[in-house]
Amino acid sequence: VQAKRIIEQEHRSLAAVLHGMLFVVREIRYGGSAANFDLLFAMVDYLENFSEKVHHPKEDAYLFERVAARCEGAGPTIERLREQHRAGGEKIDALKRSLARYQEQGDPAFADFAAQVAGFAAFHWDHMRTEEDVILPLALAHLSRDDWALIDRAFLGHADPLLGVERGDEYQALFKRIVELAPPPLGLAPRR
Ligand SMILES: [Fe+2]
Ligand SMILES: [Fe+2]
Repeated sequence: VQAKRIIEQEHRSLAAVLHGMLFVVREIRYGGSAANFDLLFAMVDYLENFSEKVHHPKEDAYLFERVAARCEGAGPTIERLREQHRAGGEKIDALKRSLARYQEQGDPAFADFAAQVAGFAAFHWDHMRTEEDVILPLALAHLSRDDWALIDRAFLGHADPLLGVERGDEYQALFKRIVELAPPPLGLAPRR
């Protein structure tokens, strides 16, 4: 099923950025690196724009909607995941505010930012794991061919012009910017 592959790929991209942020925080804490705020803001932007504006709305409108309709037992898990989608925006705002404070105030604000990154990464990983380990297997077991055709269209970007292919290019460009700004082993930027 194409949509399953796309969802897993989108999760890998999000996980790469979460790992990247944790890596950068560790380099600052233990490696004595200076914070690269262009990179950190690009990472937060990617999480905000891609997961909040594209990935989660598609899951809510297509995947969760179909699984809830076909599989009654999935109700409580889907409700919890939808609630996490709603909470995600507020968590990213808090992360962004904490990053802005770190940029303004420097070292005294670092510990809060590091804790925000760790908390957000754990929250997001747990969320994605539930989708992959619980929801996708239920979808494979219960959805019809027509259900999947609908979800495939959405995730391939053909169902909703707002979530379409052009937007996909925009997010790839954002991801590419992160790779260009990040030092090895994460990305391609020269070490600072
Ligand atoms: Fe989700
Ligand atoms: Fe997801």
